[in-house]
Amino acid sequence: RKRVLSGMQPSGLLHLGNYLGALENWKALQDQHECYFFVADWHALSSNYADTSRIREFVRELLIDWLAVGIDPVRSTVFVQSRIPEHAVLHLLFSMIIPVSWLERNPTYKEKQEEIKEKDLSTYGFLGYPVLQAADILLYKPDFVPVGKDQLPHLELTRELARRFNSLYRPVFPEPMELLTKFPKVLGTDGRKMSKSYGNTINLSDTEPVVRQKLKTMMTDPARVRRHDPGNPDVCPVFDFHKIFSPLPVIEQINRECRTAAIGCIDCKKLVADRLVERMTPIWEARTALTKDPSRLEEIVEEGSRKAGEVAKATLHDVTEAMRI
Ligand code: TRP
Repeated sequence: RKRVLSGMQPSGLLHLGNYLGALENWKALQDQHECYFFVADWHALSSNYADTSRIREFVRELLIDWLAVGIDPVRSTVFVQSRIPEHAVLHLLFSMIIPVSWLERNPTYKEKQEEIKEKDLSTYGFLGYPVLQAADILLYKPDFVPVGKDQLPHLELTRELARRFNSLYRPVFPEPMELLTKFPKVLGTDGRKMSKSYGNTINLSDTEPVVRQKLKTMMTDPARVRRHDPGNPDVCPVFDFHKIFSPLPVIEQINRECRTAAIGCIDCKKLVADRLVERMTPIWEARTALTKDPSRLEEIVEEGSRKAGEVAKATLHDVTEAMRI
């Protein structure tokens, strides 16, 4: 069995894009591997240090979402970064050996800083984001790290840091490989990539009426103005949803009937809304149960953090021995 580790920032409510793109993959990995999944709440501070008011709430919601979709705390270790102080200690030790130039040339550093103009991201912590991420990863000596391709520079930097540590002191760390998630981009209600920053998401925590309403107002083929106009499913984000959630015969039927205007957008959306609601109902039920039972959630996180802490302590011991401190 190989070891797998991944994390997510608690930066908002999870949506279908996160679910299909990441969580479905995590869920499947649990069958074959020893998995560690954690909430990177310190990472959320790096771009949200001024407004921290909702971080705790997002940590909770994130854990609820994970468990509700089927991340299984019996088979996998589910924990919260800030409960394992070893992440901070290893971050500090790594900060001593990482050249600043590695961080300054990190593409996500420049991109994000330009993307988020309204916040002052000239902080030490924001520059050091990948150092903390390297500590998160290497503490658990995983074989694989499932991530999206936006995280590849951070994985590369993690391996470079592992090599540097190993050659400066002695071989302590493996060089973990990414596991790229291959799920196609999920589009949001406005036809752009589903993303919290576009406000076009369908969240796992949305209620059934909200989901139905979002589908009703979802963008379709913009060239199809009237009911009797023929449509082009290839450019319709609702058809993308059909491809994800509907059975093959329905997908084929929509593909035909949209082009000849045999089916209208309202009926087409109703069909996919029913499928989506069907898929989300068990998630909603699990979410409700977990929300009602905060002590169960706390027990799960406590047990996960205890297990993670043992691994982290053992690695940090190897590290301090290697560094003779
Ligand atoms: N940087 C990751 C993201 O934004 C989150 C993260 C933090 C992470 N630490 C990690 C992912 C360790 C994988 C492993 O998505």
